[in-house]
Order: sequence, then structure tokens, then C-alpha cells
Amino acid sequence: MTETHDTIRGFRQALDRARASGLAVGLVPTMGSLHAGHLSLVERAGLDNDVVAVTNFVNPLQFAADEDLGSYPRHPDRDEALVAAAGAAHVFVPSVAEMYPEPVLTTVSVAGISETMEGVSRPTHFSGVATAVAKLFAIAGPCRAYFGEKDFQQLAVVRRMVADLSIPVDVIGCPTVRAADGLALSSRNVYLSAEQRRAAPVLHRALRAGADGVGRGERSADAVVRAMVTTVAAEPEAELDYAEVVEPQRFERVDPLAGDLRLLIAARFGQTRLIDNIAVLAD
Ligand code: PAJ
Repeated sequence: MTETHDTIRGFRQALDRARASGLAVGLVPTMGSLHAGHLSLVERAGLDNDVVAVTNFVNPLQFAADEDLGSYPRHPDRDEALVAAAGAAHVFVPSVAEMYPEPVLTTVSVAGISETMEGVSRPTHFSGVATAVAKLFAIAGPCRAYFGEKDFQQLAVVRRMVADLSIPVDVIGCPTVRAADGLALSSRNVYLSAEQRRAAPVLHRALRAGADGVGRGERSADAVVRAMVTTVAAEPEAELDYAEVVEPQRFERVDPLAGDLRLLIAARFGQTRLIDNIAVLAD
């Protein structure tokens, strides 16, 4: 049985009650329009915890004025059925007025790692994410919280926020779920035309091209980035935003390449901006 909550008070009480009975709580924050990537987080939370809670809130703070807040896909009924089938005990679906009854004067910003890559194209995005996630953590209370590596910079921002503010939440990163052709699942993939959808796996191919270079012994960051840029340039539907290779905690470029690295990429397909990333080891 899945309980749906639309008030902060009701959701908080339900999770407080679970903890009072000695149950471990797993939290999965989402913006809904759920796909197999989200459901993999719900399943993982179910393996690690006694009670799983999913939040479904399209957070206006993380969208810039010219972004897709108005058209962001919303399927609350289908989401509830999916989450129930995946075994979640609680779903939190607050209205914007419930989450933000007053203009938000208190915000959370994680300096440095919020300002590079995604932060260049979307300068207010990560403070919108961090503020909403801090609030969800304050509502949910002590728990494990599950985030996808698909949004690798977001995961790093949330981890750093939790560490800096001593928030009693254990943040768990989970692997990216992909379509058979390599495209990372994303709620925004529904915006793609048939032609753009055909082209979109170029992001994963570009990441693979960079990783293959490292695997063959390439240790120049520039050369690895060039391999990614060249792959995307061969696809006319794609317009590259950035391709980078960084050290995965501080998000700084390492040159020559050494140790654990993350390759990250973003490109536009028409109006739709997609991101992806993979891990690579230069040993
Ligand atoms: P949303 O885009 O709905 O994603 C919710 C969670 O699902 C995030 O942790 C995201 O990384 C993960 N996810 C998305 N696609 C995935 C995939 N293909 N494989 C694995 N995990 C995937 O990210 C957000 O919402 C918001 O910024 C949020 C954290 C809820 C704050 O508003």
C-alpha cells in the first residue's frame, strides 16, 4: 500500500513514525515523469531500507526564466502507479504553494563546483536544486537518499552540501540507466523529434571515444576532449555545449590525466539540451 502525501506535515509525520518503529528510510527525490532510471533508484532504495519514500515535485527554483518549467512533462497519476508497483510506501507530491508559501529568501549555494560546466549554461540551476533538496532533507529527516550518476554534477553538489552543513542524510549515487543504443534515459528525451532521437546517442559515443583514448594510454586532457568534440561534430543534429574531463570531487581538469576521472558532455538537439557522463580510470 502506497500512501500519498501533499502536505509537509503529513509526509514528515509518516517518516518520523517509520523511524520511531525502528525502520530505515530510503528517500528518492524526483521531478516526476518517471522512467526506468528513476525506478532503478526506487528499487535500490528498497534493497537498502525498510521504507521507501519518493518525492515528486517540479521545483521552479531550478529553472531559469527561459527554460522549460511550463512545458516540463507531468504525469502524476502514471507516476503514482509506477512508484506503487516499485514498492514505495510513501509518495510526497506537494504543490508549489505548499513547498514555497512565501517568496524564498533563504537559499543554499555550493560555490565552485556549481559554477563550472552545467553552472556556466545554467548559472542559477544548482542553487535552485540545493535549496529544494536541503528543504526535502529537512522535511524527510535522517535517511539514505538516492541520486543518479546521470546528473553527476548535481550528485557532487548534493554530497558537498550535506557534508558542509552536517545534514543527517547518507547520499548514495546510483549508475545511469541507458536505452539499448546508449542514450541515457531522461524525462527530457520526450522533447526529441525522431531525427533528434536517432542522433542523440552521439553523446554516449563521444564519451566512449574519450574513454577509449584514455584506455589506449592517452594522458593529454586536450586530446581526450578533442576526441569527444570530433565525435559530436560529425553529427549535424547536435550542437556541443561542453565536453570535459575532470577529477570527480572538485570538478577540476587534471593534465596529464591520472587516477579516477569523469568525462562529461552536454549538447543541444534543437531546443533540447541533454547531458551525459561516464567514469574512466587512468592508471
Ligand atoms: P529528476 O530529473 O526527476 O531526477 C531524479 C533523480 O533521478 C536524480 O537523482 C537523477 O539523477 C536520477 N536519474 C535521472 N535519469 C536517470 C538515469 N537515466 N539513470 C539513473 N538515474 C537517473 O534531478 C532531479 O529530478 C531534480 O534536480 C531533483 C534532485 C529532484 C531536485 O529537484
